Amino acid sequence: MCGIVGYVGQKQALEVVVAGLRRLEYRGYDSAGVAVIADGHLETRKKAGKLTNLETLLGEDPLPNSTTGIGHTRWATHGGPTDSNAHPHVSEDGRIAVIHNGIIENFAVLREELTAAGVTLTSETDTEVVAHMLARALPAVGDSLQVAMQAVCSQLEGAFTLVVIDPSQPDIVVGARRNSPLVVGVGDGENFLASDVAAFFEHTRNALELGQDQIVTLTAESVTVTDFSGNPVTPRAFTVDWDASAAEKGGFDLFMLKEISEQPKAVADSLRGRTSPQGRIQLDELTLDESVFRDITKVVVVACGTAAHAGMVAKYAIEHWTRLPVDVELASEFRYRDPVVGPDSLVIAISQSGETMDTLMALRHAAAQGARTLAICNTVGSTIPRESDAVLYTYAGPEIAVASTKAFLTQIIAAYLVGLFLAQARGALTEEEIRGILQDLNDMPQKVDLVLDTVEPVRALAQQLSTATSVLFLGRHVGYPVALEGALKLKELAYMHAEGFPAGELKHGPIALIEDGVPVVVVVPSPRGRAVLHDKIISNIQEVRARGAVIIAVAEEGDEVITGFADHVIRVPEVPPLMQPLVSTVPLQVFACEMATVKGHDVDQPRNLAKSVTVE
Ligand code: F6R
Repeated sequence: MCGIVGYVGQKQALEVVVAGLRRLEYRGYDSAGVAVIADGHLETRKKAGKLTNLETLLGEDPLPNSTTGIGHTRWATHGGPTDSNAHPHVSEDGRIAVIHNGIIENFAVLREELTAAGVTLTSETDTEVVAHMLARALPAVGDSLQVAMQAVCSQLEGAFTLVVIDPSQPDIVVGARRNSPLVVGVGDGENFLASDVAAFFEHTRNALELGQDQIVTLTAESVTVTDFSGNPVTPRAFTVDWDASAAEKGGFDLFMLKEISEQPKAVADSLRGRTSPQGRIQLDELTLDESVFRDITKVVVVACGTAAHAGMVAKYAIEHWTRLPVDVELASEFRYRDPVVGPDSLVIAISQSGETMDTLMALRHAAAQGARTLAICNTVGSTIPRESDAVLYTYAGPEIAVASTKAFLTQIIAAYLVGLFLAQARGALTEEEIRGILQDLNDMPQKVDLVLDTVEPVRALAQQLSTATSVLFLGRHVGYPVALEGALKLKELAYMHAEGFPAGELKHGPIALIEDGVPVVVVVPSPRGRAVLHDKIISNIQEVRARGAVIIAVAEEGDEVITGFADHVIRVPEVPPLMQPLVSTVPLQVFACEMATVKGHDVDQPRNLAKSVTVE
């Protein structure tokens, strides 16, 4: 939440910073602001609303040329989305400009102290205190911004990434991080700070990870990192291997549509190189000793939102393949209920961004109980993989649209690979069985492609149903998390009441929601294999149909029975039951995207949301 960019180099800082903010706008879009240093003083511009409002302001009231600057795009926490609450915040003496991501939990006390000392605060934010504290700390530390930052950070509680500039030291940018993300881009005669690499990867592919409680000082030629006590730290370097076109719309109207269309490639990329020529699962990145996978007695998945749905799908597969119990926990609840995890548990944190605070805190709690931790993550250099014992990266490429699509499919793939690796290590599946499942997985890019080729009628259906006030989603077995995911997509994009249920649970209460004309999307299990699930869902369809529901069935090709029970049938290719989520989710993504488009909503940046949720 909140996007942060800092730049020092030879280029026009404003251009670099605004372009970076555009790439980070998915992190929050309640307001945006920039500050540059020119002729020995600070110049700031900030505006409520999306970045485009700031750009208009910059057109009307341009900033002077400068090669040092910072910028921020906000997801509001303390104080509404107004001009005055927009970042940067500037100290009373006009000396320090600060941008911030996170929540300073002791800000009320700090604010009181400043007020008592005669400082006038002009915003409702928690951030502003930092600007005043830094300005007041500087004289005592020989005007060193880096040392003042150490002193101030030591007084702050909560989560924060801070980036500051000071016109009396015009060629440096100083950043600090605790719990919220900050990465360094190392250029040639220029350096960058940003919430994630998307902000600078068009300028440089060389990046540095910053650890917990570290301070970084950039000049055009140098990057210096210390801890909060000033001890030098050597940050880990990494290379960004994203394709530059990955962060562009590439001819699509929406990032979401582009990302939906990229799913076959994302799935293929996430499978590539993870099997030996002999057909064994080979996860070289899983640096944990194989004995860990043999000795654990339970698996716990911690994740939020869509990533949690991926975990729910994986539970069905991992339990089936390994006979290990798998719990899937919403990360925000995990550490507050004294969960039973310990050295015999493998805790898998699934996160596209690698920065979700709820998931990070759950992971830390699990690690503190002695659990072995494994991250499934899409973002190299992010905090969750860095703090895990092992990591398996998904290769979805940058996901810019706020609503997660391609990350979901790749999270399922990665979790399935972990499940197969566990089964292999424990001898729970034969080599032949594993080879067969791998073949099924390897078929999936082509199957997802087929879905995309035939998904057009879903748009027409969404248009037809766009006046509905409520849509219910039903599923059984792995279709249940798919139903939850379909409902989540519709809620977040189309702002409609949408709920997913296990189809069998309906009669225990939710069926009271059914009235004439309510659309009910049913993720229909395959009639092949465990036909009982198909029979049961037909009964559930009958129950809601009898009460006036309009049935939209997502059913596999060749399931002719379903046509007699559904008002609309969305076809997906025949795949083995555990692979079904990888095809049946796709039309539901398109359905939600189209529904939001028809309603005139901003699909890529839905209201109230931010992509990387770095507050609890
Ligand atoms: C929904 C969505 C969110 C995220 C959730 C976790 O479309 O994007 O529900 O899935 O906030 O985010 P990550 O995966 O970054 O931890």
